Amino acid sequence: MSSPWRPEVRIVSDDRHLIAAELRKLADETQCCLIVTTGGTGPAVRDVTPEATGDVCEKILPGFGELMRKVSLEKVPTAILSRQTAGIRGKSLIINLPGQPRAIRECLSAVMPAVPYCIELIGGPRLETVPAVCQSYRPPGA
Ligand code: MTE
Repeated sequence: MSSPWRPEVRIVSDDRHLIAAELRKLADETQCCLIVTTGGTGPAVRDVTPEATGDVCEKILPGFGELMRKVSLEKVPTAILSRQTAGIRGKSLIINLPGQPRAIRECLSAVMPAVPYCIELIGGPRLETVPAVCQSYRPPGA
């Protein structure tokens, strides 16, 4: 069984304040329990998504970035260039993904098993995933 959900899509220019403002709105007003950003994680001047994420999060979860870089490094050496991270704002989990579609899939597949339990821990809904797509993990008894 999977939980029903509805996507909210936003396209925001590479501007730290605009990205932070949109993240705040998605978390506080739209009340998205999961917010994923794509792109802007690299070292170029216009790459500011991790900074905007840091501006709005109460807690940073470094493990997400560590795992995504680990799996990405098995694919491309340039994975070390991504500063992707994740964090918590209220009851929302925000995850930065790189911009390339292939990279998005690789990174999201790696961290997704821990996402439903994380969202539950911060007071969000209990999410069930389709096992054929994602085997979510909860500690025994949780
Ligand atoms: N991760 C995966 N899995 N696959 C990739 O091709 N590209 C890297 C890195 N992470 C890549 C990846 C490159 S080339 C860059 S510059 C950084 O992600 C940052 O990308 P972004 O600025 O689009 O977020």
